Amino acid sequence: MTTSTTTLPGGTWTMGDLTVTRVGYGAMQLAGPHVFGPPTDHDAALAVLHEVRDLGINHIDTSDFYGPHVTNRLIKEALHPYADDLVLVTKVGARRDAEGGWPHARAPHELRQAVLDNLENLGVDVLDVVNLRPGAVEGPEPGSLAEPFGALVEMQQEGLIRHLGLSTVNAEQIAEAQQMAPIVCVQNLYNVARREDDDLVDSLAAQGIAYVPYFPLGGFTPLQSSALSAVAARLDASPMAVALAWLLQRSPNILLIPGTSSVAHLRENVAGAGLTLSAEEVAELDAIGR
Ligand SMILES: NC(=O)c1ccc[n+]([C@@H]2O[C@H](COP(=O)([O-])OP(=O)(O)OC[C@H]3O[C@@H](n4cnc5c(N)ncnc54)[C@H](OP(=O)(O)O)[C@@H]3O)[C@@H](O)[C@H]2O)c1
Repeated sequence: MTTSTTTLPGGTWTMGDLTVTRVGYGAMQLAGPHVFGPPTDHDAALAVLHEVRDLGINHIDTSDFYGPHVTNRLIKEALHPYADDLVLVTKVGARRDAEGGWPHARAPHELRQAVLDNLENLGVDVLDVVNLRPGAVEGPEPGSLAEPFGALVEMQQEGLIRHLGLSTVNAEQIAEAQQMAPIVCVQNLYNVARREDDDLVDSLAAQGIAYVPYFPLGGFTPLQSSALSAVAARLDASPMAVALAWLLQRSPNILLIPGTSSVAHLRENVAGAGLTLSAEEVAELDAIGR
């Protein structure tokens, strides 16, 4: 059964045959400090995932390299057997080293192992959406994706993956991948203060492809802007709420995956995303990242 209505802010978006709430959840923060090792409070992490479900959010962003393995196993422990309409989006293309670094893992055999690890640790036979993440957290690294994306296309044809997406990529890399197979989403760094992808957001919207910004709240460095704080103060809201509402209003193809390890923050973020910003407020916020 596919949910097509929601009371969550922003309604839903359809990726291929999957309908997701535009307010989703990014699970990276559930692992331990620096996204390495187990959470400091296992039960608290499970409680966040239960709240995600209870709020009606049906889009969770994850990866087997969070922890590694930790986040996926928490998702499985908290939510398996999964609701029919839950969409788990994962990513491959990196691994963790012994120091907690994030080296590339883009060779076909590494990508296959990553897909198999995701299947096992999430406890599913088919992955809903797999993003190839060839770049770094700071952004894309130019170069052909033909070999790694081709490896994922093969696994899609084998029935291990339902839909493909891309993360940390530029427009040329997206166009190259689209010559090989359809993609349903792009996940890049973007927020009210980081607007390098403005044109990309619009061109993907025109193609009906989701744009899923990571670091919607600034990531490891919370967003700081006097204009953001001023609008937030006027609306009696937090800067985070305004930042999420701005993204939701920015374009219908934007899906939110704010990350948090706290039930209270999760609730705040869902409520905050529903703020209505006036045209004047949007113009003030637009000026931050330009
Ligand atoms: N493709 C990629 O390369 C890539 C890279 C990074 C992230 N991601 C994905 O994107 C998702 C979102 O990114 P992110 O989690 O790194 O960054 P984010 O959503 O921009 O910010 C998360 C940070 O904000 C804090 N926070 C969240 N809500 C808050 C609130 N209401 N009040 C105060 N603090 C709040 C969190 O701390 P608390 O835990 O204390 O709430 C956490 O430190 C990740 O979960 C992951 O799934 C993808």
